Amino acid sequence: MNKNILIIPGDGIGQEVTTWGKQALEAVARKYGHVFSFDEAIMGHTAIEATGNPLPDETLEKAKASDAILFGAIGHAKYDNDPSAKVRPEQGLLKIRKELGLYANLRPILLFDELLEASSLKPEVLRGTDILFFRELTGDVYFGEKTRSDDNTFASDLMNYHRYEVERIARKAYEAARTRNKKLCSVDKANVLETSRLWRDVVQEIAREYPDVETEHMFIDNAAMQLVKNPKKFDVVLTANLFGDILTDEASQIAGSMGMLASASIGDGTGFFEPIHGSAHDIAGQNKANPLASILSAALMLDIAFGLQEEAKAVTQAVADTLKAGWRTGDIANANTSATHILGTNEMGAKVLEYLR
Ligand code: IPM
Ligand code: MN
Repeated sequence: MNKNILIIPGDGIGQEVTTWGKQALEAVARKYGHVFSFDEAIMGHTAIEATGNPLPDETLEKAKASDAILFGAIGHAKYDNDPSAKVRPEQGLLKIRKELGLYANLRPILLFDELLEASSLKPEVLRGTDILFFRELTGDVYFGEKTRSDDNTFASDLMNYHRYEVERIARKAYEAARTRNKKLCSVDKANVLETSRLWRDVVQEIAREYPDVETEHMFIDNAAMQLVKNPKKFDVVLTANLFGDILTDEASQIAGSMGMLASASIGDGTGFFEPIHGSAHDIAGQNKANPLASILSAALMLDIAFGLQEEAKAVTQAVADTLKAGWRTGDIANANTSATHILGTNEMGAKVLEYLR
């Protein structure tokens, strides 16, 4: 198979982790006889520094022309404490999601048994958890009109949804539920928000097309609580952009660390594969970041963008083997991990490649 893959490292630890996602793809190409060619482009703070624009036209053109994109992370501490900055790294990510029509963000909560002890939750609560989040990604309060009064005493972000936006993500989530445990939980705040009442209306309608899938509707506050109380009860979770952003960071603690979770953003065209973690400037450039989320994002690309299920499984298995052998980055180590088994980004990435070969 011949594919053109665009790497967008982005900011902070993005460069360090995408190196390993890319090397996993190269190893797969060698092992299975595929031809993957790579190009690279800038986005976020890195792109602002170089061009003044968080998403340069050249990056967008390369993205549209590629078969799949592997992205690292975005953001810089300098903007977090400067709410008046008009040009911000995150705008690059939001714009590329919109431009590529990436309305469905799939975030699997993949729990490796070896990491049961890495979580702050009890192993018996976690064991057996397998959740697939469908987060809507191009609508909601993320993209509604934003205003701030000139005298700086009022601000507003408009939360809105169109029926078609809910329909298309709901269908994707139901299709996935069919291939899994046939349970779908739609999360909203329909007791308060009009957008959520539309959301619930539409999901109830789509649910009728999937009578074999058991549907539950849950309020976001309750879902946030149930997720740590009894995560096993969830299979597919379908939710809006902002709720999904928050719930999946919470759910990352089920998997042990933000450094473990990969995601796939898909829609009408080129797919975009990225860890759910941020740019982690506090550890950037120190060879400390966990490369597994990027490597697992590469596995999602193989599976979802290219339909290479066997190759994707081989990558996930190599990660499992690495963990089974006791190798850990700092974020997933615990009191029982011997110091000699705690690795840096590069050493951890290299271990996975050893198992992959
Ligand atoms: C994520 C991130 C982004 C989001 C930020 C960086 C804009 O937190 O992908 O979850 O909120 O969608
Ligand atoms: Mn997030």
